[in-house]
Amino acid sequence: MECEWRIPFFEPDLGQAEIDALTAVIKSKWLTMGDVTSDFESQFSEFIGCRHSVAVSSCTAALHVALRCLDLSADDEVICPALTFVATANAIRYCRAKPVFADVDSLGVWNISSSTIERVLTPRTKAIVVVHYGGYPCDMPAIMELAQSKGIRIVEDAAHAVGARLQGRAMGSWGDFGCFSFFSNKNLTTGEGGMVTTNRDDLAERARLLRSHAMTSATLDRYKGHASDYDVVDLGYNYRMGELNASLGLVQLAALNKRNEQRRKLVELYRSRLSTMSGLTVPFTCSAGESGYHIMPVLLPERADRAKVMDHLKAHGVQSSIHFRPIDTFTAYREAGLGPCADLIYTHQIGERVLTLPLYPSMRTEQVDYVCEILQYALRGL
Ligand SMILES: Cc1ncc(COP(=O)(O)O)c(C=O)c1O
Repeated sequence: MECEWRIPFFEPDLGQAEIDALTAVIKSKWLTMGDVTSDFESQFSEFIGCRHSVAVSSCTAALHVALRCLDLSADDEVICPALTFVATANAIRYCRAKPVFADVDSLGVWNISSSTIERVLTPRTKAIVVVHYGGYPCDMPAIMELAQSKGIRIVEDAAHAVGARLQGRAMGSWGDFGCFSFFSNKNLTTGEGGMVTTNRDDLAERARLLRSHAMTSATLDRYKGHASDYDVVDLGYNYRMGELNASLGLVQLAALNKRNEQRRKLVELYRSRLSTMSGLTVPFTCSAGESGYHIMPVLLPERADRAKVMDHLKAHGVQSSIHFRPIDTFTAYREAGLGPCADLIYTHQIGERVLTLPLYPSMRTEQVDYVCEILQYALRGL
């Protein structure tokens, strides 16, 4: 039976501006990788403060393209967290390299850090994929220093972190590559979509090629008479973004700062309401920089039965979720000999106790109050 949520887990902000943008693209009769996509890429670069943005069909595609540009081989290891969506590690495996999981920093900071990375570094480590969990910036100055001292490449999985900043610098502009997601539930949505960002001209050129079959000219170039023939120079993919998606991206980008600020206020409200609940921890209380406030995770008390808490919330119309089940515990990773990893102490504790509460910019104060009330009631009764 379908649930009627009183408070859904997320709700995308879509309105007349998006409808108008989609209509304009349909009227133009040019539906894929044209001027609207180029415009979205330029405006995104300006927003992030990076030299290049390459629009793709998802963040998974962005991660795959970014890692392909690093020329990984089967002997190479790539460090990443296990407390993330499976796509982070899958993209490493698509390139035939081995994902090596680093633990998150602590029960209060759910990101990998230079010290947890150092514990799993080997001479075979070729790259690190950091994830700015929930939009909260990883400690990039320390991670960059470590990586640069060892000649290791950095890819930022910034799926949660569009608009997040550290020391005034956007997340996704620190490493060799930034990878963004524009999936329906993200802070900026194009339905499906993603972006690869980089400051390096050579890497941008390679990413652009890989996104579209490594063809040396695009359909639009040929239509505009700029090219009549093409070569294929690498093993590429069809990871192109459609013009309809890009048109949504332009509208959503213009509203992003305002919506991230709404998210920040809601998170502040959540934090003050939840601070009185005994045994419950809210992570990232002293996080540096400005988060993207993508999700609202809490760490349930050790004694709490999470399934029962989620059922209780559901019975009162509140949708909740889990971010994340650690990747090393999944069947596909166990069967590939990549898990479970006994040394991921914090990752596994968090994986068992995390609960993600609803968060979206149009959420009202009363709705936050209601979620907290129902949660408190659930924790008292269990
Ligand atoms: C941390 C992280 N990385 C990557 C992805 C994959 O994004 P996409 O669905 O755009 O491929 C997600 C999706 O939610 C994510 O949470």
